[in-house]
Amino acid sequence: MRTPLAVASAALALAAVACATAAGSGGAASPDAAGERLYRGHCGSCHRLRDPAEQTRERWAWAVNRFGPRAHLSPEERRLVLDFLQARAKDAAPAASQEAR
Ligand code: HEC
Repeated sequence: MRTPLAVASAALALAAVACATAAGSGGAASPDAAGERLYRGHCGSCHRLRDPAEQTRERWAWAVNRFGPRAHLSPEERRLVLDFLQARAKDAAPAASQEAR
């Protein structure tokens, strides 16, 4: 018999992926999803990940510019991360920030 815990956590992981995919418009391969993955994977090593809505678009541009190289992000990856963050920034256009719900 397989352990119920392993099966349950696999199901949870799948559900999380399904939610993330449903929230974006282009599915798992969308630039927005890639930006989120890069942000989560690269920007939380020195400090807690900030909520994208905590900072303004301008502030995110500053942060990604300043920390991108130290987070080992290529210029192209920085662009994806910045797009993801700015779409959810404090001063993002209302339509863009509601898309995240
Ligand atoms: C090499 C370590 C390191 C990495 C990697 C890193 N940061 Fe930082 N970050 C810092 C330090 C140090 C500070 C200043 C102290 C603090 O606020 O924790 C800071 C501060 C910030 C702030 C300012 C917070 C505020 O309250 O104004 C933001 C925003 C930020 N980082 C975003 C990012 C983003 C986005 C990434 C990924 C591209 C990133 N950081 C990756 C070290 C890092």
